Amino acid sequence: MIKIAPSILAADISRLEEQLLIVKKEKIEWLHVDVMDGHFVPNLTFGPSMVKAVKKMTGLFMDVHLMVDEPDFIIPEFCLAGADMITVHVEAIKHLHRSIQLIKSMGAQAGVTLNPGTPAHLLDSILTEIDLVLVMSVNPGYGGQKFIPSVIEKIREISNKIKQKNLNVYLEVDGGITADTAPQVVKAGANVLVAGTSVFGQENIPRAISLIKESYAGLSK
Ligand code: DX5
Ligand code: ZN
Repeated sequence: MIKIAPSILAADISRLEEQLLIVKKEKIEWLHVDVMDGHFVPNLTFGPSMVKAVKKMTGLFMDVHLMVDEPDFIIPEFCLAGADMITVHVEAIKHLHRSIQLIKSMGAQAGVTLNPGTPAHLLDSILTEIDLVLVMSVNPGYGGQKFIPSVIEKIREISNKIKQKNLNVYLEVDGGITADTAPQVVKAGANVLVAGTSVFGQENIPRAISLIKESYAGLSK
């Protein structure tokens, strides 16, 4: 079953509750929260209080994407705020297993994220320890960027690794996901699609969600 995880980065914060309730009504289960620190990426966004507020407003699964250098200092705060999944970037961490263990010890699920230029083999020593792989299909930092097609091969490669090891690991893709790119990544094996601009950036949010769902309908398992 493919999931769409709308990214609140593209939401109208002045109408956040209204927009969140619209996506909830469309049977969306996950919400993606982009946390940017101004160091790992050149932008600043949300902290734990946003996760707490969105969780309170919706009760939905909180998928928290940390674009933060050495994030161990803030992981406990996000867990206490209600994060259900926390993903960290391999490029931002010296001791990856320690961060994954910290997330799990706080009761959340743990994911690892790869930038578009980072090879899939960096997952080899951690794949059996995690709940999700997040493949970036844009360079992190901003919404509304163009999908990088070369990541499709990497998604296929990671999907094969997950299948070969018979693991129960989500394969999520983030950046430039639209009704055009969604079927391409689903065909390659992705099962969680982050969508910012193509959901919250649209006038008619229910229709935008339907268009994405229809785009991969014949392909979903
Ligand atoms: C980019 C973020 C994405 C972003 C996606 O750094 O990680 O989650 O919100 O936005 P769109 O869907 O507009 O590319
Ligand atoms: Zn993200």
